[in-house]
Amino acid sequence: MAKVKIIGEQPLHGAINISGAKNSALPILAAAVLLDGESIISNVPQLTDITTMVRMLRSINILAEQSGGKIRIVNKKQVKHLIPYELVTKMRASFFIAGPILAKVGMVRVPMPGGCAIGSRPVDIHLKGFQALGAVVSLEHGFIEIRCKKLKGGQVNFPFPSVGATENIMMAATLAEGVTTIANAAREPEIVDLADLLNEAGANISGAGSSTIVITGVSALHGVKHAVIPDRIEAGTMLLAGLITRGQITVNNVRPADISALLSVLSETGARFEIENNSITAALGARWRGAQVVTQPYPGFPTDMQAQLMAYLALAEGASTVRETIFENRFMHIGELQRMGARIRAEERTAIIEGVAGLSGAEVKATDLRAGAALWLAGLAAQGETTIYGVEHIERGYEKLTEKLSALGARIKRIN
Ligand code: EPZ
Repeated sequence: MAKVKIIGEQPLHGAINISGAKNSALPILAAAVLLDGESIISNVPQLTDITTMVRMLRSINILAEQSGGKIRIVNKKQVKHLIPYELVTKMRASFFIAGPILAKVGMVRVPMPGGCAIGSRPVDIHLKGFQALGAVVSLEHGFIEIRCKKLKGGQVNFPFPSVGATENIMMAATLAEGVTTIANAAREPEIVDLADLLNEAGANISGAGSSTIVITGVSALHGVKHAVIPDRIEAGTMLLAGLITRGQITVNNVRPADISALLSVLSETGARFEIENNSITAALGARWRGAQVVTQPYPGFPTDMQAQLMAYLALAEGASTVRETIFENRFMHIGELQRMGARIRAEERTAIIEGVAGLSGAEVKATDLRAGAALWLAGLAAQGETTIYGVEHIERGYEKLTEKLSALGARIKRIN
Protein backbone atom coordinates (compact mmCIF):
# COMPACT_ATOMS: atom_id res chain seq x y z
CA MET A 1 0.00 0.00 0.00
CA ALA A 2 1.50 3.37 -1.03
CA LYS A 3 2.30 5.87 1.67
CA VAL A 4 3.70 9.39 2.11
CA LYS A 5 6.54 10.13 4.52
CA ILE A 6 7.17 13.65 5.83
CA ILE A 7 9.94 15.03 8.04
CA GLY A 8 8.32 18.02 9.76
CA GLU A 9 9.40 21.43 10.99
CA GLN A 10 10.64 22.68 7.59
CA PRO A 11 9.32 26.24 6.94
CA LEU A 12 7.99 26.38 3.35
CA HIS A 13 9.10 29.22 1.08
CA GLY A 14 8.52 30.07 -2.58
CA ALA A 15 5.70 30.21 -5.11
CA ILE A 16 3.50 27.54 -6.70
CA ASN A 17 0.94 27.47 -9.48
CA ILE A 18 -2.50 26.25 -8.46
CA SER A 19 -4.10 23.62 -10.70
CA GLY A 20 -7.54 23.69 -12.28
CA ALA A 21 -10.52 22.97 -10.00
CA LYS A 22 -11.42 19.28 -9.67
CA ASN A 23 -14.96 20.18 -8.61
CA SER A 24 -15.43 22.32 -11.70
CA ALA A 25 -13.80 19.92 -14.18
CA LEU A 26 -15.99 16.99 -13.07
CA PRO A 27 -19.42 18.55 -13.81
CA ILE A 28 -17.97 20.20 -16.93
CA LEU A 29 -16.90 16.80 -18.26
CA ALA A 30 -20.39 15.47 -17.46
CA ALA A 31 -21.86 18.42 -19.41
CA ALA A 32 -19.93 17.22 -22.49
CA VAL A 33 -22.79 14.74 -22.99
CA LEU A 34 -24.98 17.71 -23.96
CA LEU A 35 -22.55 19.28 -26.44
CA ASP A 36 -22.74 18.05 -30.06
CA GLY A 37 -19.43 17.79 -31.90
CA GLU A 38 -15.94 18.49 -30.55
CA SER A 39 -15.00 20.22 -27.28
CA ILE A 40 -11.61 20.97 -25.75
CA ILE A 41 -11.50 21.38 -21.96
CA SER A 42 -8.19 22.77 -20.66
CA ASN A 43 -6.56 23.46 -17.27
CA VAL A 44 -7.94 20.10 -16.10
CA PRO A 45 -6.02 18.69 -13.09
CA GLN A 46 -4.51 15.23 -13.58
CA LEU A 47 -6.27 13.35 -10.78
CA THR A 48 -7.78 9.89 -10.40
CA ASP A 49 -11.31 11.33 -10.24
CA ILE A 50 -10.80 12.98 -13.63
CA THR A 51 -9.58 9.72 -15.13
CA THR A 52 -12.69 8.02 -13.74
CA MET A 53 -14.93 10.62 -15.39
CA VAL A 54 -13.08 10.22 -18.72
CA ARG A 55 -13.65 6.46 -18.49
CA MET A 56 -17.31 7.18 -17.73
CA LEU A 57 -17.68 9.25 -20.91
CA ARG A 58 -16.05 6.51 -22.98
CA SER A 59 -18.39 3.92 -21.45
CA ILE A 60 -21.42 5.77 -22.85
CA ASN A 61 -20.02 6.13 -26.39
CA ILE A 62 -18.35 9.52 -26.12
CA LEU A 63 -14.82 9.85 -27.44
CA ALA A 64 -12.66 11.39 -24.70
CA GLU A 65 -8.87 11.61 -24.77
CA GLN A 66 -6.70 13.23 -22.13
CA SER A 67 -3.26 14.65 -22.84
CA GLY A 68 -1.75 16.55 -19.93
CA GLY A 69 -4.25 19.11 -18.69
CA LYS A 70 -6.28 19.03 -21.91
CA ILE A 71 -9.22 16.78 -22.62
CA ARG A 72 -10.61 16.46 -26.16
CA ILE A 73 -14.19 15.26 -26.37
CA VAL A 74 -16.11 14.26 -29.50
CA ASN A 75 -19.79 13.58 -29.04
CA LYS A 76 -21.12 12.21 -32.31
CA LYS A 77 -22.74 8.84 -31.72
CA GLN A 78 -25.92 7.96 -29.81
CA VAL A 79 -25.09 8.26 -26.11
CA LYS A 80 -25.77 5.11 -24.07
CA HIS A 81 -28.13 5.53 -21.12
CA LEU A 82 -26.61 2.98 -18.72
CA ILE A 83 -23.86 4.15 -16.38
CA PRO A 84 -21.51 1.34 -15.29
CA TYR A 85 -21.80 0.26 -11.66
CA GLU A 86 -18.08 0.14 -10.87
CA LEU A 87 -17.56 3.75 -11.98
CA VAL A 88 -20.45 5.20 -9.96
CA THR A 89 -19.37 3.44 -6.79
CA LYS A 90 -15.80 4.69 -7.31
CA MET A 91 -16.86 8.30 -7.35
CA ARG A 92 -20.09 9.92 -6.22
CA ALA A 93 -19.56 12.82 -8.60
CA SER A 94 -20.33 10.47 -11.49
CA PHE A 95 -24.00 10.95 -10.54
CA PHE A 96 -23.73 14.41 -12.13
CA ILE A 97 -23.85 12.68 -15.51
CA ALA A 98 -27.47 11.54 -14.95
CA GLY A 99 -28.98 14.93 -15.81
CA PRO A 100 -27.15 15.35 -19.11
CA ILE A 101 -27.94 11.79 -20.26
CA LEU A 102 -31.61 12.18 -19.27
CA ALA A 103 -31.85 15.45 -21.24
CA LYS A 104 -30.03 13.98 -24.23
CA VAL A 105 -31.52 10.47 -24.43
CA GLY A 106 -34.81 10.71 -22.50
CA MET A 107 -33.78 8.00 -20.06
CA VAL A 108 -30.94 7.04 -17.72
CA ARG A 109 -30.20 4.05 -15.51
CA VAL A 110 -27.66 4.85 -12.83
CA PRO A 111 -26.62 2.74 -9.84
CA MET A 112 -27.40 4.30 -6.48
CA PRO A 113 -24.13 6.13 -5.69
CA GLY A 114 -22.38 4.39 -2.80
CA GLY A 115 -22.26 6.30 0.45
CA CYS A 116 -18.78 7.50 1.19
CA ALA A 117 -16.64 8.21 4.20
CA ILE A 118 -18.16 11.60 4.88
CA GLY A 119 -21.76 10.51 5.28
CA SER A 120 -24.66 8.83 3.48
CA ARG A 121 -24.91 11.60 0.85
CA PRO A 122 -28.30 10.78 -0.69
CA VAL A 123 -29.46 12.11 -4.05
CA ASP A 124 -33.08 12.90 -3.12
CA ILE A 125 -32.73 16.59 -4.03
CA HIS A 126 -31.47 15.63 -7.50
CA LEU A 127 -34.37 13.19 -8.03
CA LYS A 128 -37.08 15.63 -6.85
CA GLY A 129 -35.57 18.15 -9.27
CA PHE A 130 -35.86 15.76 -12.21
CA GLN A 131 -39.47 14.99 -11.21
CA ALA A 132 -40.22 18.74 -11.20
CA LEU A 133 -39.11 18.73 -14.86
CA GLY A 134 -41.55 15.92 -15.67
CA ALA A 135 -39.33 12.87 -15.23
CA VAL A 136 -40.53 9.58 -13.71
CA VAL A 137 -38.12 8.09 -11.19
CA SER A 138 -38.08 4.42 -10.12
CA LEU A 139 -35.67 2.51 -7.89
CA GLU A 140 -35.07 -1.17 -8.52
CA HIS A 141 -32.27 -3.68 -7.92
CA GLY A 142 -29.93 -0.90 -6.66
CA PHE A 143 -30.48 1.13 -9.79
CA ILE A 144 -32.22 4.46 -10.23
CA GLU A 145 -34.16 4.64 -13.49
CA ILE A 146 -35.19 8.11 -14.65
CA ARG A 147 -37.38 8.48 -17.72
CA CYS A 148 -38.81 11.43 -19.62
CA LYS A 149 -39.25 11.72 -23.37
CA LYS A 150 -38.85 15.46 -23.30
CA LEU A 151 -38.16 17.43 -20.09
CA LYS A 152 -40.47 20.39 -19.45
CA GLY A 153 -39.15 23.52 -17.76
CA GLY A 154 -40.61 24.21 -14.33
CA GLN A 155 -40.10 25.54 -10.79
CA VAL A 156 -37.49 23.61 -8.78
CA ASN A 157 -37.32 24.52 -5.08
CA PHE A 158 -34.29 23.06 -3.26
CA PRO A 159 -34.66 22.33 0.48
CA PHE A 160 -30.86 22.74 0.70
CA PRO A 161 -28.46 24.45 -1.75
CA SER A 162 -26.92 21.17 -2.94
CA VAL A 163 -23.93 21.78 -5.25
CA GLY A 164 -24.36 18.56 -7.25
CA ALA A 165 -28.13 18.87 -7.52
CA THR A 166 -27.82 22.47 -8.74
CA GLU A 167 -25.37 21.32 -11.42
CA ASN A 168 -27.41 18.25 -12.40
CA ILE A 169 -30.72 20.14 -12.77
CA MET A 170 -29.09 23.15 -14.47
CA MET A 171 -27.52 20.85 -17.07
CA ALA A 172 -30.75 18.88 -17.67
CA ALA A 173 -32.82 22.08 -17.96
CA THR A 174 -30.65 23.47 -20.81
CA LEU A 175 -32.45 21.13 -23.29
CA ALA A 176 -35.87 21.14 -21.61
CA GLU A 177 -38.91 22.77 -23.26
CA GLY A 178 -39.59 26.16 -21.64
CA VAL A 179 -38.17 27.93 -18.61
CA THR A 180 -36.78 26.34 -15.42
CA THR A 181 -36.22 28.31 -12.23
CA ILE A 182 -34.02 26.78 -9.51
CA ALA A 183 -34.76 28.42 -6.15
CA ASN A 184 -32.26 28.09 -3.28
CA ALA A 185 -29.56 27.06 -5.76
CA ALA A 186 -25.96 26.57 -4.60
CA ARG A 187 -23.73 29.57 -5.37
CA GLU A 188 -20.23 27.97 -5.60
CA PRO A 189 -17.78 29.39 -8.22
CA GLU A 190 -17.76 25.95 -9.88
CA ILE A 191 -21.45 26.41 -10.68
CA VAL A 192 -20.71 29.74 -12.38
CA ASP A 193 -17.89 28.06 -14.36
CA LEU A 194 -20.30 25.32 -15.51
CA ALA A 195 -22.96 27.89 -16.49
CA ASP A 196 -20.33 29.86 -18.44
CA LEU A 197 -19.37 26.72 -20.38
CA LEU A 198 -23.03 25.90 -21.12
CA ASN A 199 -23.77 29.47 -22.26
CA GLU A 200 -20.65 29.38 -24.48
CA ALA A 201 -22.23 26.24 -26.00
CA GLY A 202 -25.49 28.02 -26.78
CA ALA A 203 -27.47 27.57 -23.56
CA ASN A 204 -29.51 30.36 -22.01
CA ILE A 205 -28.73 30.48 -18.27
CA SER A 206 -28.91 33.52 -16.01
CA GLY A 207 -28.34 33.98 -12.28
CA ALA A 208 -25.60 31.36 -11.78
CA GLY A 209 -23.74 32.33 -8.60
CA SER A 210 -26.94 33.65 -7.02
CA SER A 211 -29.61 31.63 -5.17
CA THR A 212 -31.98 31.78 -8.17
CA ILE A 213 -30.92 30.37 -11.52
CA VAL A 214 -33.17 30.71 -14.60
CA ILE A 215 -32.60 28.35 -17.54
CA THR A 216 -34.50 28.82 -20.82
CA GLY A 217 -34.37 25.54 -22.78
CA VAL A 218 -32.83 25.45 -26.26
CA SER A 219 -32.96 22.73 -28.92
CA ALA A 220 -29.23 21.86 -29.08
CA LEU A 221 -25.80 22.79 -27.72
CA HIS A 222 -22.53 22.80 -29.68
CA GLY A 223 -18.92 21.99 -28.77
CA VAL A 224 -16.75 24.60 -27.02
CA LYS A 225 -13.20 25.37 -25.94
CA HIS A 226 -13.13 26.11 -22.21
CA ALA A 227 -10.48 26.51 -19.50
CA VAL A 228 -11.46 25.34 -16.01
CA ILE A 229 -11.19 27.89 -13.16
CA PRO A 230 -8.43 27.50 -10.54
CA ASP A 231 -8.98 25.17 -7.58
CA ARG A 232 -9.92 27.38 -4.62
CA ILE A 233 -9.56 24.47 -2.17
CA GLU A 234 -6.04 23.63 -3.32
CA ALA A 235 -5.20 27.34 -3.06
CA GLY A 236 -6.51 27.53 0.52
CA THR A 237 -4.77 24.29 1.50
CA MET A 238 -1.42 25.45 0.10
CA LEU A 239 -1.68 28.82 1.88
CA LEU A 240 -2.22 26.87 5.12
CA ALA A 241 0.92 24.83 4.34
CA GLY A 242 2.96 28.07 4.33
CA LEU A 243 1.34 29.35 7.53
CA ILE A 244 1.43 26.12 9.55
CA THR A 245 5.18 25.75 8.88
CA ARG A 246 5.77 29.45 9.71
CA GLY A 247 7.15 30.01 6.24
CA GLN A 248 6.02 32.35 3.51
CA ILE A 249 4.52 31.12 0.24
CA THR A 250 2.81 32.64 -2.77
CA VAL A 251 0.05 30.84 -4.66
CA ASN A 252 -0.29 31.87 -8.33
CA ASN A 253 -3.19 31.37 -10.79
CA VAL A 254 -5.80 31.88 -8.08
CA ARG A 255 -8.94 34.00 -7.77
CA PRO A 256 -8.71 35.62 -4.31
CA ALA A 257 -12.42 36.40 -4.22
CA ASP A 258 -13.19 32.66 -4.31
CA ILE A 259 -11.58 32.13 -0.88
CA SER A 260 -12.52 35.35 0.92
CA ALA A 261 -14.29 33.48 3.77
CA LEU A 262 -11.10 31.48 4.44
CA LEU A 263 -8.86 34.56 4.20
CA SER A 264 -10.99 36.46 6.72
CA VAL A 265 -10.84 33.56 9.23
CA LEU A 266 -7.05 33.29 8.78
CA SER A 267 -6.62 37.07 9.16
CA GLU A 268 -8.55 36.81 12.45
CA THR A 269 -5.91 34.32 13.65
CA GLY A 270 -3.13 36.79 12.84
CA ALA A 271 -2.10 35.75 9.33
CA ARG A 272 -1.20 38.52 6.91
CA PHE A 273 -1.85 38.44 3.15
CA GLU A 274 -0.56 40.33 0.15
CA ILE A 275 -3.08 40.02 -2.67
CA GLU A 276 -2.27 40.78 -6.32
CA ASN A 277 -4.85 40.20 -9.06
CA ASN A 278 -4.30 36.45 -9.33
CA SER A 279 -1.82 35.62 -6.58
CA ILE A 280 -1.79 35.62 -2.80
CA THR A 281 1.23 35.66 -0.46
CA ALA A 282 0.62 34.51 3.13
CA ALA A 283 2.85 35.08 6.13
CA LEU A 284 2.63 35.11 9.90
CA GLY A 285 4.33 37.31 12.49
CA ALA A 286 4.13 35.35 15.72
CA ARG A 287 2.15 32.23 16.67
CA TRP A 288 -1.42 32.40 15.42
CA ARG A 289 -4.52 32.74 17.58
CA GLY A 290 -7.57 30.45 17.65
CA ALA A 291 -10.90 31.14 15.90
CA GLN A 292 -14.60 30.21 15.96
CA VAL A 293 -15.65 28.80 12.57
CA VAL A 294 -18.90 27.41 11.12
CA THR A 295 -18.94 25.72 7.69
CA GLN A 296 -21.64 27.07 5.38
CA PRO A 297 -22.68 26.82 1.73
CA TYR A 298 -20.76 29.29 -0.47
CA PRO A 299 -19.92 32.14 0.12
CA GLY A 300 -19.58 30.95 3.73
CA PHE A 301 -16.57 29.06 5.09
CA PRO A 302 -16.20 25.93 2.86
CA THR A 303 -16.66 22.46 4.36
CA ASP A 304 -13.83 21.30 2.05
CA MET A 305 -11.41 23.44 4.08
CA GLN A 306 -12.69 22.33 7.51
CA ALA A 307 -10.24 19.47 8.12
CA GLN A 308 -7.25 21.48 6.91
CA LEU A 309 -8.19 24.45 9.12
CA MET A 310 -8.47 22.11 12.11
CA ALA A 311 -4.85 21.00 11.67
CA TYR A 312 -3.80 24.67 11.66
CA LEU A 313 -5.95 25.56 14.72
CA ALA A 314 -4.51 22.56 16.60
CA LEU A 315 -1.29 24.60 16.85
CA ALA A 316 -2.91 27.98 17.64
CA GLU A 317 -2.44 29.95 20.84
CA GLY A 318 -5.69 29.39 22.75
CA ALA A 319 -8.94 27.58 22.00
CA SER A 320 -11.02 27.27 18.83
CA THR A 321 -14.34 25.75 17.79
CA VAL A 322 -15.22 24.35 14.35
CA ARG A 323 -18.85 23.52 13.59
CA GLU A 324 -19.54 21.32 10.54
CA THR A 325 -23.06 22.02 9.21
CA ILE A 326 -22.85 20.52 5.69
CA PHE A 327 -21.96 16.85 6.26
CA GLU A 328 -23.06 14.73 9.19
CA ASN A 329 -19.82 12.81 9.53
CA ARG A 330 -16.81 14.82 8.52
CA PHE A 331 -14.67 14.60 11.68
CA MET A 332 -12.73 11.40 10.97
CA HIS A 333 -9.48 13.35 10.90
CA ILE A 334 -9.85 14.26 14.61
CA GLY A 335 -8.76 10.81 15.81
CA GLU A 336 -5.69 10.87 13.60
CA LEU A 337 -4.74 14.43 14.64
CA GLN A 338 -5.10 13.39 18.29
CA ARG A 339 -2.52 10.66 17.66
CA MET A 340 -0.13 13.45 16.64
CA GLY A 341 -0.74 15.23 19.95
CA ALA A 342 -3.61 17.54 18.97
CA ARG A 343 -6.08 18.28 21.75
CA ILE A 344 -9.45 18.16 19.98
CA ARG A 345 -12.80 16.74 21.10
CA ALA A 346 -16.02 16.50 19.13
CA GLU A 347 -19.41 17.28 20.63
CA GLU A 348 -21.97 16.32 17.96
CA ARG A 349 -21.06 18.47 14.98
CA THR A 350 -18.81 20.89 16.86
CA ALA A 351 -15.11 20.27 17.43
CA ILE A 352 -13.46 22.02 20.40
CA ILE A 353 -9.75 22.54 19.89
CA GLU A 354 -7.20 23.45 22.61
CA GLY A 355 -4.11 24.79 20.83
CA VAL A 356 -0.85 23.00 21.68
CA ALA A 357 2.71 24.25 21.23
CA GLY A 358 3.72 21.40 18.95
CA LEU A 359 2.59 18.16 17.29
CA SER A 360 4.66 15.00 17.01
CA GLY A 361 5.02 12.90 13.88
CA ALA A 362 3.19 9.54 13.82
CA GLU A 363 1.80 6.86 11.51
CA VAL A 364 -1.67 8.01 10.45
CA LYS A 365 -4.37 7.10 7.91
CA ALA A 366 -6.27 9.30 5.48
CA THR A 367 -10.01 8.47 5.29
CA ASP A 368 -11.07 11.00 2.65
CA LEU A 369 -9.26 13.51 0.50
CA ARG A 370 -9.62 16.54 2.77
CA ALA A 371 -8.89 14.55 5.95
CA GLY A 372 -5.74 13.43 4.12
CA ALA A 373 -4.82 17.06 3.52
CA ALA A 374 -5.22 17.81 7.24
CA LEU A 375 -2.75 15.02 7.96
CA TRP A 376 -0.05 16.17 5.58
CA LEU A 377 -0.44 19.73 6.84
CA ALA A 378 0.01 18.48 10.41
CA GLY A 379 2.95 16.33 9.27
CA LEU A 380 4.68 19.34 7.72
CA ALA A 381 4.55 21.14 11.09
CA ALA A 382 5.07 18.16 13.44
CA GLN A 383 8.34 17.31 15.16
CA GLY A 384 9.89 14.20 13.57
CA GLU A 385 8.56 11.85 10.91
CA THR A 386 4.93 11.32 9.85
CA THR A 387 3.81 8.43 7.65
CA ILE A 388 0.41 8.77 6.00
CA TYR A 389 -1.45 5.72 4.65
CA GLY A 390 -4.41 5.95 2.28
CA VAL A 391 -2.46 7.90 -0.34
CA GLU A 392 -5.17 7.12 -2.93
CA HIS A 393 -7.44 9.52 -1.04
CA ILE A 394 -4.81 12.26 -0.96
CA GLU A 395 -4.14 11.98 -4.69
CA ARG A 396 -7.84 12.35 -5.56
CA GLY A 397 -7.71 16.05 -4.84
CA TYR A 398 -4.18 17.40 -5.14
CA GLU A 399 -2.30 17.25 -8.43
CA LYS A 400 1.48 16.61 -8.18
CA LEU A 401 1.30 17.16 -4.40
CA THR A 402 4.73 15.84 -3.37
CA GLU A 403 6.43 17.69 -6.24
CA LYS A 404 4.72 20.96 -5.32
CA LEU A 405 5.51 20.68 -1.60
CA SER A 406 9.12 19.54 -2.21
CA ALA A 407 9.63 22.59 -4.46
CA LEU A 408 8.64 24.71 -1.45
CA GLY A 409 11.22 23.02 0.78
CA ALA A 410 9.14 20.25 2.35
CA ARG A 411 10.90 16.96 3.11
CA ILE A 412 8.20 14.71 1.69
CA LYS A 413 8.27 11.59 -0.43
CA ARG A 414 5.81 9.04 -1.76
CA ILE A 415 6.75 5.41 -1.14
CA ASN A 416 5.10 2.73 -3.28
C1 EPZ B 1 -19.90 18.82 -3.74
O1 EPZ B 1 -20.40 17.57 -3.34
C2 EPZ B 1 -18.38 18.65 -3.77
N1 EPZ B 1 -18.02 17.60 -4.73
C3 EPZ B 1 -17.88 18.29 -2.38
O2 EPZ B 1 -16.45 18.24 -2.44
C4 EPZ B 1 -18.28 19.40 -1.41
O3 EPZ B 1 -17.88 19.02 -0.11
C5 EPZ B 1 -19.81 19.58 -1.46
O4 EPZ B 1 -20.22 19.87 -2.81
C6 EPZ B 1 -20.28 20.72 -0.57
O5 EPZ B 1 -19.63 21.90 -0.95
C7 EPZ B 1 -17.97 17.91 -6.05
O6 EPZ B 1 -18.25 19.02 -6.46
C8 EPZ B 1 -17.55 16.80 -6.96
P1 EPZ B 1 -23.92 18.64 -1.82
P2 EPZ B 1 -21.99 17.27 -3.41
O7 EPZ B 1 -24.92 18.02 -2.74
O8 EPZ B 1 -22.57 17.89 -4.62
C9 EPZ B 1 -26.78 16.58 1.32
C10 EPZ B 1 -14.33 17.35 -2.12
O9 EPZ B 1 -13.76 17.34 -1.04
N2 EPZ B 1 -27.57 16.19 0.14
O10 EPZ B 1 -23.81 20.14 -1.76
O11 EPZ B 1 -22.18 15.83 -3.18
C11 EPZ B 1 -25.47 15.81 1.39
O12 EPZ B 1 -25.70 14.56 2.04
C12 EPZ B 1 -15.80 16.99 -2.19
O13 EPZ B 1 -13.85 17.73 -3.21
C13 EPZ B 1 -28.81 15.60 0.33
O14 EPZ B 1 -29.25 15.39 1.45
O15 EPZ B 1 -22.47 18.08 -2.11
C14 EPZ B 1 -24.58 16.71 2.19
O16 EPZ B 1 -24.85 16.52 3.56
C15 EPZ B 1 -16.24 16.30 -0.91
N3 EPZ B 1 -29.54 15.21 -0.75
C16 EPZ B 1 -25.05 18.12 1.78
O17 EPZ B 1 -26.36 17.96 1.20
C17 EPZ B 1 -29.08 15.41 -2.04
O18 EPZ B 1 -29.80 15.07 -3.01
C18 EPZ B 1 -24.13 18.79 0.77
O19 EPZ B 1 -24.15 18.01 -0.36
C19 EPZ B 1 -27.82 16.02 -2.21
C20 EPZ B 1 -27.08 16.40 -1.12
